[in-house]
Amino acid sequence: MESPRQSDASSPVEPCSPICVDTPATQSSVLFDGNLDDLLRNFPLHQYILVTGGLGFIGSHTTLELLKAGYNVIVIDNLSNSFQSVFDRINLLAQKHHEEQGTQMPALHLDAHDYRDTAALKALLEQYQIQSRWGSPKSNIAGVIHFAAYKAVEESIRNPLKYYANNVSGLVDFATTLGEYGIKTFIFSSSATVYGTLATSGLPLKEELCAHKDEVFQGVDGLDQTVKAGCTGITNPYGRTKWMCEAILADLAASDPEWTIVALRYFNPIGCDESGLLGEDPRQTPTNLLPVVVKVMTGEYMELQMFGTDWETEDGTAVRDFIHVTDLARGHIAALDAANAENLVENFRAFNLGTGRGHSVMEVVDTMESVSSKRIPTRAAPRRPGDVGSCVAVATRSQQELHWKTEKTLRDACGSLCKFLEVGSLSFP
Ligand code: UD1
Repeated sequence: MESPRQSDASSPVEPCSPICVDTPATQSSVLFDGNLDDLLRNFPLHQYILVTGGLGFIGSHTTLELLKAGYNVIVIDNLSNSFQSVFDRINLLAQKHHEEQGTQMPALHLDAHDYRDTAALKALLEQYQIQSRWGSPKSNIAGVIHFAAYKAVEESIRNPLKYYANNVSGLVDFATTLGEYGIKTFIFSSSATVYGTLATSGLPLKEELCAHKDEVFQGVDGLDQTVKAGCTGITNPYGRTKWMCEAILADLAASDPEWTIVALRYFNPIGCDESGLLGEDPRQTPTNLLPVVVKVMTGEYMELQMFGTDWETEDGTAVRDFIHVTDLARGHIAALDAANAENLVENFRAFNLGTGRGHSVMEVVDTMESVSSKRIPTRAAPRRPGDVGSCVAVATRSQQELHWKTEKTLRDACGSLCKFLEVGSLSFP
């Protein structure tokens, strides 16, 4: 009998039975016709991807892109900052995609509990274990994407232990349990915040600048540069939790070659799915730029305060690397594919996920005004504590090693948010 906290999206693919053999359910006449990679993607391999925080802003978009790409997905989410309706919307959008493509809809399950609830986690993982009488444990869960974490900078300064307990201690327990079940492919949701004040140093933000072992790489002057393991100038507890988690995961990978771990350092995710049906958590009072801009557009806020108009940038407002959330979501799939194909340089690898191009706060406002044909009142305000003037990714490592690059523009992101305002946000939850 299904546990009450589990939801299954109706799907033509049978969910994995408690004990599955790792044999693809193939139809031989089809198998030899087309491109094997494409076919494998679209067959129910009885393998699942576990996504924690899969109903949050980035998590929901990633879950949708995974389903579109043919992965079966289990979401763990405690609904603390998301809605059950997001699950239904993901399911609807994925079904529509597969109907249009004439492909099979993969399985989608929701386990609505906290990722730190180890008893509930073990009960879930038991269901996906492959029965094996010898050797190390094996699972039908082929990888984990871990989003569940607190992320408000200001709150982390007021209540650091809440952040260290959930983000850091939670991760240690979670990885321990996963290891016990033989699930050792892990994609970690990190942040450009790990670069701290390096963002304003003028140095291009390459992954090597924040490393977990000593690194030698070619600097901008073409000379070898050595960076010691450690972190430099992280400005808040939230940022430190992300760095600590990366360091813990790097140590774990070094201790056990069976683990393959990728840390994805997000720059500034914006926008939403082009349907307008998924968006950014309307439960929270927004502090990030675009959600505040949206509140101004709906009339909930009178104006946008531009925090800092005296930065050393072209127009004086801060510059960020804004990345469309759908591009970001696809970056996770590229990372998962590279990890499962054992294509990574090392079994712990960090990647920037950004566009490599900066836009100022003023440019964002101008673009949104032009896309929405609405005026967005602004007011110059003092710099926000902890802010940096500019933070832009060097995106070459992810392009070269993950074969991933962004495709969408700031204009696309603004357009998708206008759509969200039209169709998506009003009917939450
Ligand atoms: C913030 C977080 C960062 C996190 C990232 C991911 C802080 C200090 N940092 O980055 O840790 O990884 O989000 O989403 O919160 N701005 C305004 N007016 C507003 C809101 C923002 O001018 O009402 C400006 C900010 O001052 C900043 C820029 O817009 O210069 C971007 O701000 P925001 O969207 O909050 O992102 P970050 O500060 O870059």
